[in-house]
Amino acid sequence: MKNLTIKTKLTFWYTFMLVILLMIFSAFIYISMSNAMLQGAESLIKAHAAQVASIIEVENGNARFDEPFELTTSGTYITIYNSDNSVIEGSKVHPIITDMKPSFNVVKNIEINDSIWLVYDQPIYDNNVLVAWVRASRSLMPVGEALKNLRTVIFVAIPLCMLIAIGGGLFLSGRALAPIDHITKTARAIGRGDLSRRLNLPNIKDEVGNLATTFDEMLDRLETSFKKERQFTSDASHELRTPVAVITAQAEDALAGNRDMTSYREALETILKESKKMGNIISQLLMLTRGDEKKYKPVIEDIDLVMIATEVLNEMEGLASKKNVSLYLDSPNELHAMMDQTLITQLFINLIDNAVKYNYDNGWVKISLSGNKDKAYISVEDNGIGISDEDIPHIFDRFYRVDKSRKSDGTGLGLSIVKWIIDIHKGNISVQSVVGKGSKFIVKLPKYNGEEDLKA
Ligand SMILES: Nc1ncnc2c1ncn2[C@@H]1O[C@H](COP(=O)(O)OP(=O)(O)OP(=O)(O)O)[C@@H](O)[C@H]1O
Ligand SMILES: [Mg+2]
Repeated sequence: MKNLTIKTKLTFWYTFMLVILLMIFSAFIYISMSNAMLQGAESLIKAHAAQVASIIEVENGNARFDEPFELTTSGTYITIYNSDNSVIEGSKVHPIITDMKPSFNVVKNIEINDSIWLVYDQPIYDNNVLVAWVRASRSLMPVGEALKNLRTVIFVAIPLCMLIAIGGGLFLSGRALAPIDHITKTARAIGRGDLSRRLNLPNIKDEVGNLATTFDEMLDRLETSFKKERQFTSDASHELRTPVAVITAQAEDALAGNRDMTSYREALETILKESKKMGNIISQLLMLTRGDEKKYKPVIEDIDLVMIATEVLNEMEGLASKKNVSLYLDSPNELHAMMDQTLITQLFINLIDNAVKYNYDNGWVKISLSGNKDKAYISVEDNGIGISDEDIPHIFDRFYRVDKSRKSDGTGLGLSIVKWIIDIHKGNISVQSVVGKGSKFIVKLPKYNGEEDLKA
């Protein structure tokens, strides 16, 4: 049974159930019919006997009948006996019936030559003295014939129904399950690495249709995430290859010939700068990968966003002063929330770093903090180069940079980390920007996230 196909199992089960039901139904019909016919025959001979008895009159203790009557009425045979059991008048029936001793008011079954006869005796009394009696008898042959016909119909009908059920069942379940074969084949093709395959079944809203649609949707998501994964790996290798190439070139150059101390120093400085950059990329990548694998467990504690923003601004002062960018903070005295301090610090660093980096000389960056009962709002605004409408949807993608030339020393991971930090805190971020005028990043974060909620 285990190795049978669903098609066979389905057909087998419902044919089995159908046959059982048909058998129960047929047995019920057969039994009810035979009871009804038997009772009909019994009532008939009783009625015939009573009818004949009613026209017999008793005179001086003797039976007399003036009215003529039928000795055989629609299959019932009538015989009239004297009280001494001698026949007065009667139709010709089998001697066994004629000679049988009377037993009044009960219907008896007698078997003669393989056929059953019903016999009924009705007494006729005169002042409580038996003067005569009427015997009605009737063969059950017609009832037997009718029941035999019914049996034949049942025995032909059940196997016929079974055949129709099997045929119809195989056909219907075959049709209904055909798309499953298609799904299996496609899944196999996908197993061999072809993620572009789709079922593309016509849009039928039955169970299999829904399965196929869900399957195609799942494939869409899988393909997208595979593509992203591939893109991510290739971008990561690309980003790492450049500093490695610079380091190698610098080291080879330095080792090639006798150089003075200054050029060695310069080479080492470049090597250090590139190594730091590589280290930075690697730690950012690690952070994102751990986030993807849901391995990062946020440490949720009471933090003061104003304090963190102030610290980050102080650290950024050096970077900003290189371009003469002014940093402002607009905030209440303190703004407490339950969040992960390390991550929120990183969020400020990444957003302020961008606002400074993508700013003009002598520009400004304004950080505003506010909050209500259950939300904290952070906005980082600058009057820098701005982002075009086409780029805005992509800036949170990993490795996405508007300026793809190596002029900007970013790797394009900063905002994807910001996005991840916001997701982990169940918040959201929006961007408003005008090219050449500036950008504003607005972050909304729930203030009180239970640690359990954040892990979910
Ligand atoms: N405030 C901003 N003004 C103008 N452009 C911005 C701003 N912030 C981000 N961008 C654009 O979005 C891109 C992605 O930013 P993201 O912070 O993710 O990467 P990055 O700054 O290039 O590199 P990283 O932050 O990893 O050093 C940037 O390269 C830049 O083109
Ligand atoms: Mg950045």
